[in-house]
Amino acid sequence: MKKTVLVTGGAGFIGANFVHLLAKKEDEWRIINIDKLTYAGNLKNISGIAEGKNYRFVKGDICDAEMIDKLFAEERIDMVVHFAAESHVDRSIVGPAAFIQTNIIGTFTLLEAARKNWLADDGQGRECCFLHVSTDEVYGSLGDTGFFTEQTAYDPRSPYSSSKASSDHLASAYFHTYGLPVRITNCSNNYGPYQFPEKLIPLIFNNALSGRPLPVYGDGRNVRDWLYVEDHCQAIEQVLRKGVNGEKYNIGGNNEKQNIDVVHTVCDLLDEKIGPLADGSPRRTLVTHVKDRLGHDRRYAIDAAKIGRQLGWQPEVSFEQGIDRTIDWYLANRQWVDEIVSGEYQHYYQKMYA
Ligand code: NAD
Ligand code: TYD
Repeated sequence: MKKTVLVTGGAGFIGANFVHLLAKKEDEWRIINIDKLTYAGNLKNISGIAEGKNYRFVKGDICDAEMIDKLFAEERIDMVVHFAAESHVDRSIVGPAAFIQTNIIGTFTLLEAARKNWLADDGQGRECCFLHVSTDEVYGSLGDTGFFTEQTAYDPRSPYSSSKASSDHLASAYFHTYGLPVRITNCSNNYGPYQFPEKLIPLIFNNALSGRPLPVYGDGRNVRDWLYVEDHCQAIEQVLRKGVNGEKYNIGGNNEKQNIDVVHTVCDLLDEKIGPLADGSPRRTLVTHVKDRLGHDRRYAIDAAKIGRQLGWQPEVSFEQGIDRTIDWYLANRQWVDEIVSGEYQHYYQKMYA
């Protein structure tokens, strides 16, 4: 029987990619997408998906308990896939309050609604699941060696990662205390279509395209483990289908890269695809080392063996394929980027990178 899944934050980067993935399987899923449409939410990310019996969009705030309860009363929600969050580390350093509100209070509000509705329900064999989508940043920062496993102790170091860690703990507590069917995923850095241009890869793409300086924090040797967003979405679908309640799953691409190498790759691909800068110089010459991020985590690296072993998930897209596709997508969707960077985002950019 078709499952009704409440996707939160489905107008954002990963959420929209996930909605696209599920919408292709309309025999299996009915999607309710709730999104506040903050600066990071964009209806254009899901413009191809028509309202109808398989899809409903609701503009709303996950912190609004009354509205969330109403939604649970109106719809027979079987599953929650919870993406909605404030997601950018730099913004969390400048203004942490919104992160505490949405990431902690918002998650609490959803957990409460699920608890009231699912555990009061007489059940009757109904299989429910609350999938809390989180980040590897909750584990803190690694030295030159080692990987984060599901057993690694939490050591969040930014307001963003500590708000996500709090929400992970709440989700986990709802499983242990009330028996709410919770599953948690902790994923490494994503990239791909619809990523908001404040994040490294689309920011570098956009600046390199127009010949502006490419801000690299500190020495550029910080390491992130990059995963193509569609691989992440497929992993989430596997956790929904086959995961075990109360379990955590690490998700990663096994693609560790230093930031400077990622930036060089974006520059080289653009030179190759559209030619060098107007004066003939390669885009790498635009790299500008700027002041380091406060408390900048040095290295993240995920051990994703558990989800591979237990749920049979493996990333399918190599970094080389994924970054090539991503650059092609951004080139083909320049208007999508232009509309964002010419709006309110300009003020953020000027303040951050002045
Ligand atoms: P994003 O910032 O692109 O999108 C977040 C979405 O949530 C937006 O559409 C926004 O409008 C919505 N939203 C924000 N506050 C809301 C509220 N109070 N009520 C309802 N909707 C609200 O984020 P993303 O990069 O797509 O990340 C999605 C999730 O995945 C987050 O929980 C994030 O912590 C997690 N995650 C992200 C990455 C990554 O690399 N981007 C990696 C691992 C985990
Ligand atoms: P980001 O995309 O913000 O993701 P996260 O901080 O969640 O890992 O940043 C990825 C890496 O790139 C991180 O080490 C910070 C660095 N970075 C820059 O060097 N310059 C930039 O302009 C941005 C946005 C990030």
